[in-house]
Amino acid sequence: MTLVKEKNDLDLVGQSLLTLSVSAISPKTKSANTAKTIKDKMSLIESRFVPAIPDLIDYSDFPSNRINADEEEKKRISRELHDGVGQLLTSMNLHIQRCLDGCDDQVGDKGVSEDHMDSLQALSSMVKQAMNEVRTICSSIRPAILDDLGVLAAITWQCRQISRLSSKFEVFTEFNIDEANIPEEYKSVIYRIVQESLNNAMKYSQANLVKVKLSRTRDTIELSILDDGIGFDPSEIKGRLGIGLMSMRERASSVNAALQVKAAVDQGVEISVSFPLKKVALNG
Ligand SMILES: Nc1ncnc2c1ncn2[C@@H]1O[C@H](COP(=O)(O)OP(=O)(O)OP(=O)(O)O)[C@@H](O)[C@H]1O
Ligand SMILES: [Mg+2]
Repeated sequence: MTLVKEKNDLDLVGQSLLTLSVSAISPKTKSANTAKTIKDKMSLIESRFVPAIPDLIDYSDFPSNRINADEEEKKRISRELHDGVGQLLTSMNLHIQRCLDGCDDQVGDKGVSEDHMDSLQALSSMVKQAMNEVRTICSSIRPAILDDLGVLAAITWQCRQISRLSSKFEVFTEFNIDEANIPEEYKSVIYRIVQESLNNAMKYSQANLVKVKLSRTRDTIELSILDDGIGFDPSEIKGRLGIGLMSMRERASSVNAALQVKAAVDQGVEISVSFPLKKVALNG
């Protein structure tokens, strides 16, 4: 499939420059053209993308640099919850288990009433439930998978979950980088940007295909999340801006990475971020 420029490039990129013929992937023909193999699908989604749609989104009214502090605070809360309340519940569970084991053969004849046994059992299952809830909260604050398995596995897991959830679109990953080559300070930024991009793709894009790509060049790490959905006009998005696009941008700039939103009506959306590799200087 080739993209055919219908009009000449004009001064204002993002206006007539965006008038490209994408008839081969218009909604009507999209399903007919969906390639059969994963490889074909991947190249299909990539080949349709306009290389240089500028980020025309006007972010001027949004409060600045909040994200880094938020992320630090989340890490702290998650740690406190996990190590504090989590540990306490684990100990309580052990004690309750000891009581249950000790009372098991004494019900009735030696003064342990069935009511007390029932209460102990109820207590045991409530504590277990509380342990699960703490785990769930910790993971939503800072996904444990990020620390346990690394960002690549975390992204892969998330993409699989989404593909399973929705039969409407498929999410592919392509990684040309090793986990060891991703600086720690970039990992949660990468993960959160992928998370929000995928959320947006699920909510708005009506896409068939979404691709998450992470690769390494000599001086940078390049992240891109692109979909083949309905897209939007960047110059008209201001009124609809939520926290999502803005916070992705702030997260990126908190580690001196440059984020670009490429979008056009009926041409999908690509969020791309370039992380510098040589100097990892965090903003204060
Ligand atoms: N992949 C996409 N396809 C089509 N439209 C999109 C896509 N991503 C974002 N948009 C548009 O951009 C708007 C702004 O997105 P943003 O993430 O900032 O806010 P939101 O998702 O509406 O709210 P929040 O992220 O705060 O829950 C969306 O309301 C939607 O109209
Ligand atoms: Mg959003």
